[in-house]
Amino acid sequence: MDLPLENFHLKLKIEGLEATDRFGKKLGSLLRPGSILLLEGEMGAGKTTLAKSICSALEINPEIVNSPTYTFAHLYPGKLNVSHVDLFRIERSEELDDFDREDLICDEGITLVEWPTFLENLLNHDPVLKLKFNIIETDCRSIMMISNHPFYRPLFEEGIFSGISSNCTVVETP
Ligand SMILES: Nc1ncnc2c1ncn2[C@@H]1O[C@H](COP(=O)(O)OP(=O)(O)OP(=O)(O)O)[C@@H](O)[C@H]1O
Ligand SMILES: [Mg+2]
Repeated sequence: MDLPLENFHLKLKIEGLEATDRFGKKLGSLLRPGSILLLEGEMGAGKTTLAKSICSALEINPEIVNSPTYTFAHLYPGKLNVSHVDLFRIERSEELDDFDREDLICDEGITLVEWPTFLENLLNHDPVLKLKFNIIETDCRSIMMISNHPFYRPLFEEGIFSGISSNCTVVETP
């Protein structure tokens, strides 16, 4: 049976690396096992930067968190294990046929996917949270958080991302 669809979205403006780090750590501390985050945005938008902070909150050394270009996925052991996937080099969805789900998705932990386009259609019933990054200025990013899965209801409860930093502000809510 399908879970009822919901439509959560929240847009944040984040100025400076410190505010991004604080946001990532807060988000990482709130994620439940089974969370699958799709990190979308152009090169240099800040996907890996945020992944490092999320991992840091899960007691993973952020220095080992780097885009897994040649293997497509890294599994980092932590308070919750994190699968960090980067599909930048995938050009056709058929290329994913070679992978089993567990090669990419960490169902008992957290999955972070950079360049998720070709994986997205395979995740219809999974608890997916999309983060769309945009570059506003050199040090300023916006991140739109979107999910239609009730799994993320607690994340979107009122005020959950306020008070992180004066440089991290909500710019748009439903
Ligand atoms: N507020 C900010 N949030 C995130 N990154 C920022 C911010 N301000 C500046 N940056 C810089 O932007 C760059 C983001 O690079 P990062 O590797 O995280 O991007 P990416 O989206 O993973 O790119 P790619 O698609 O190439 O993997 C870093 O050099 C980081 O220091
Ligand atoms: Mg990256």
